[in-house]
Amino acid sequence: MAMRDAPAVSLRLREEIRAADAERVAGLVAATGLFSEAEVAIARELVLERLAKGAASGYEFVLAEQRGALAGYACYGPVPATASSFTLYWIAVAPPLQSRGVGRLLLARVAARASAAGGERLYAETSSRPEYGATLGFYAACGFHRVARLPDHFGPGDAKLILERPLAGDAAH
Ligand SMILES: CC(C)(COP(=O)(O)OP(=O)(O)OC[C@H]1O[C@@H](n2cnc3c(N)ncnc32)[C@H](O)[C@@H]1OP(=O)(O)O)[C@@H](O)C(=O)NCCC(=O)NCCS
Repeated sequence: MAMRDAPAVSLRLREEIRAADAERVAGLVAATGLFSEAEVAIARELVLERLAKGAASGYEFVLAEQRGALAGYACYGPVPATASSFTLYWIAVAPPLQSRGVGRLLLARVAARASAAGGERLYAETSSRPEYGATLGFYAACGFHRVARLPDHFGPGDAKLILERPLAGDAAH
């Protein structure tokens, strides 16, 4: 049984982004089978934005590597023009390594970094479609609760769910 914050795989976390990460992130996101081609392109674009503009892009990353291969990653950043709100733009774990604590580890690092940077809350958005049920289970297990539901936002019967996780005390981790 894996302990909290100690995944059952040997991982290295890295926060500086490299040129090769654009294709590796796109490949990982595509491999989850959950995202459209347009969404995969956006995931790649966020890496390219970071490479081009640095911290001014507003996109921060945490990458988890297993023997040099990308096991998972998260992308987050401060919400512009807010006092202390952050958004988790993306989190994904390679399918063979899912449900082994990698996502929780990535999220803990995101929460610690966002909290240390003055963040008081972290938002995540997801869809109400059934295929996102597992994602919702993950967010609930990691301390998020639903704060808004935008009916038909993505399409008929497909609401956007906005989730929030308080960041109090995370900087210490
Ligand atoms: C969602 C995702 C990032 C979770 O990462 P993961 O490494 O598989 O999750 P973990 O093993 O760290 O699980 C962390 C917690 O979430 C819970 N969880 C994970 N999947 C769950 C599910 N299907 N139902 C309920 N809870 C779930 C686990 O039980 C665990 O809780 P615990 O530590 O209290 O036991 C990963 O499964 C994934 O990449 N999914 C596809 C992409 C995606 O949905 N991304 C999010 C939207 S951008």
